[in-house]
Amino acid sequence: MGRRVLVVGAGGREHALGWRLATSPSTDALASAPGNPGLAELGPTHQLDPTDPVAVAELAERERSDLVVVGPEAPLVAGVVDELIRRGIPAFGPTAAGAHIEGSKAFAKEVMAAAGAPTGAAVAATDPDTAYAALERFGPPYVVKADGLAAGKGVVVCGELADARRAVDDALVAGVFGDAGSRVVVEEFLAGPERSVFAVCDGEDAVLLAPAQDYKRAFDGDAGPNTGGMGAFCPVPGFGLADVHHLADLVVRPVLRELADRGTPYRGLLYAGLVETAAGPKLLEFNARFGDPETQAILPRLASDLGDLLAAAATGQVADVPVTWHDAAAVTIVLASGGYPDSYVTGQPISGVDAAATDPDVEVFHAGTARDADGALVTAGGRVLAVTATGADLSAARTSATAAADRIRFDGLQRRTDIAAAAG
Ligand code: GLY
Repeated sequence: MGRRVLVVGAGGREHALGWRLATSPSTDALASAPGNPGLAELGPTHQLDPTDPVAVAELAERERSDLVVVGPEAPLVAGVVDELIRRGIPAFGPTAAGAHIEGSKAFAKEVMAAAGAPTGAAVAATDPDTAYAALERFGPPYVVKADGLAAGKGVVVCGELADARRAVDDALVAGVFGDAGSRVVVEEFLAGPERSVFAVCDGEDAVLLAPAQDYKRAFDGDAGPNTGGMGAFCPVPGFGLADVHHLADLVVRPVLRELADRGTPYRGLLYAGLVETAAGPKLLEFNARFGDPETQAILPRLASDLGDLLAAAATGQVADVPVTWHDAAAVTIVLASGGYPDSYVTGQPISGVDAAATDPDVEVFHAGTARDADGALVTAGGRVLAVTATGADLSAARTSATAAADRIRFDGLQRRTDIAAAAG
């Protein structure tokens, strides 16, 4: 008997998780909440507020779920996993106490320091004068972050002191981020290439996933504003599994020990963002969930059973689960609404998704899509679709992903054309 799995969330990451879980031999049935039109093709979707722990837990009970996989950070921070555990339902994802490492940047910095993990200096401040003093101390480039979850908008990196002080005032005085900005973290700038490590954690130990490279800026050539991510590729030349094993010993396992010692063992995905500085790798931040769109590039390469791995993180020992990878490379191109990450219109008809997916090497993951009253697919968010292609190498995968993306149309479609171009 396999598992009945419930995926919580509605984005491209959740569609990729659901897709890989649905193709895992250990999965008997897949449902999602609230899901999206892509997840609806894999099993029933249930409309609910994913940040309502009781609503999610009651659904999991009705669904007789053997495993609940929580995708986004907001339900984790809201305590969805705590409620599931209270009812004896296995859940992949940290409790609210664990997810606090993403929910509070000041807490994350405090845990990094206590664990002895290398990171840059930082000062947490609830009053402007303390923050201004830290800006003077660290010098340019200035880094000011809202402490809490600010929908990816709470981070300012700038060269002018006046702009940095304005960022402090926006958060602490004008309250533009609400509670999330009632405290700011002023950080020492870390110069160097950014690396991400994805660790599936069981509270004590971790299994590392193949690293992926994300593209944060909206436009080609890394121009334009920061986004949630406009594309990704995997594997990353020069940064393979051997490299992440070293980083896991340096940052992931010490942090797991620290959290376990505090009585809050961390089970779920620990996403460690690092910078390769001249003085060695230093931790920038933690996320408490899979990266989006990195997941859409990583999971098509996973050859072993995702359900067994996530279930072991929830209730067992991840080291007992074999994890293997296909040799193929994967490239993911995000198709976004015009204007994203700022304002954009929704409800635009989407064509070409089925045509794009006729290539057996292509998966089209839904993110911001919906069905209109007639059942037609329309845009419903900033990041609309993530087109992933696999190929013998990054160049072949990029060619297929580009051809598939070319077949998809909607008014205002915006995407990068340089994903993985310099890599393969
Ligand atoms: N793509 C970056 C993130 O998921 O945070």
